[in-house]
Amino acid sequence: MLQRCIACEATYPLDQVCYTCAACGGLLEVRLGAERFADPRFEGRGVWRYASMLPGGDGERVSLREGDTGLYRCDRLGAALGVKNLYIKNEGDNPTGSFKDRGMTVGVTWARRLGFKTVACASTGNTSASMAAFAARAGMRAIVLIPDGKIAMGKLAQAIVHGAEVVRIRGDFDDAMRLVRELSEADGAIYLLNSINPFRLEGQKTLAFEVVDSLGAPPDAVIAPMGNAGNISAIWKGFTELECARRIERLPRMIGAQAEHAAPIVRYLRESTQECRVANAETLATAIRIGAPVNWPKAVAAIRDSGGEANLVTDDEIIAAQRRLAREEGLFVEPASAAPIAYLARYGVTAETVVCVCTGHGLKDPDAVLRMPADTKVAEPTMASLRAALEA
Ligand SMILES: Cc1ncc(COP(=O)(O)O)c(C=O)c1O
Ligand SMILES: [Zn+2]
Repeated sequence: MLQRCIACEATYPLDQVCYTCAACGGLLEVRLGAERFADPRFEGRGVWRYASMLPGGDGERVSLREGDTGLYRCDRLGAALGVKNLYIKNEGDNPTGSFKDRGMTVGVTWARRLGFKTVACASTGNTSASMAAFAARAGMRAIVLIPDGKIAMGKLAQAIVHGAEVVRIRGDFDDAMRLVRELSEADGAIYLLNSINPFRLEGQKTLAFEVVDSLGAPPDAVIAPMGNAGNISAIWKGFTELECARRIERLPRMIGAQAEHAAPIVRYLRESTQECRVANAETLATAIRIGAPVNWPKAVAAIRDSGGEANLVTDDEIIAAQRRLAREEGLFVEPASAAPIAYLARYGVTAETVVCVCTGHGLKDPDAVLRMPADTKVAEPTMASLRAALEA
């Protein structure tokens, strides 16, 4: 195993701490040696079931029982949206309530193996919640930079309760990201755990492994929300590795959903803009409120190489999709996680089997629901009043 630049193919030893290529500044990825693909053995449960395909799989792990999330078949919603086999991969089932836990178990395990005692990240909320929990489990110090006033209450509460040092940056996520990169590059004692870190993405690729384990074959299409765009890249990497290992014979189309006013990748693909960046990104789906996605080259490659696509959905469509999934299928996901359903409702997808990646739990951000008109009723503590309320 080694690290390799996706742009110039320069390689670096696995244990070298570098977040981008020293030669060209490109993104790095972890490359497995050919022997890993010969006959991978999967045993146990969760993310570490796939240890033979993961860095750090052979040592002591920092784990909170991450992975093994539900893959829910949604026939009613599928019929309404024109998809024969619609599945939701419900990442809210993870220990801190989002897919980030898949990446953090590997990232924090790796940080400890490298001898770090401090980890850091910039976050729209879920990364900080997850990193704080895994750092606590490992007995490490956690520093998180968040955009002041722009992260959901549940996520902030998690970072605080797990004892992270929370710094509220008076700027947006992109400012926080820039600062934490500078901080960890300047201070050799701080390990950066944003998704620019390729070890984190290794953990996240296990979502693809689980989907194939559950369905027995890859789906035709996977739809994922895109923020910093690490997750869609990681999931694609997982599928391509299964193909290398001859566990699957075809690959799914990767489809990315972004919010209307935070859609740099959609614009980049559509308008061939020079830079993959939009100023002042805005959406009520705060998890994907990102204007300068760090992993855009990986995500663009995943979408193009898979014959996929990316499109935007409005905040109203996201909220409508969130309610629909909750009311028609019993799954409460946070707004960003409803973007793939909003995507299906707006654009449709010509595919028989579709997996929507619902990235985080709805309870992370109850305000997003309560801000909408509330249809609750009030009654006096008498049966007569209760009956009257129910009949009103
Ligand atoms: C719930 C949720 N969905 C989607 C995303 C976007 O993931 P990525 O940044 O890997 O594109 C995030 C990132 O914070 C998230 O928290
Ligand atoms: Zn390079």
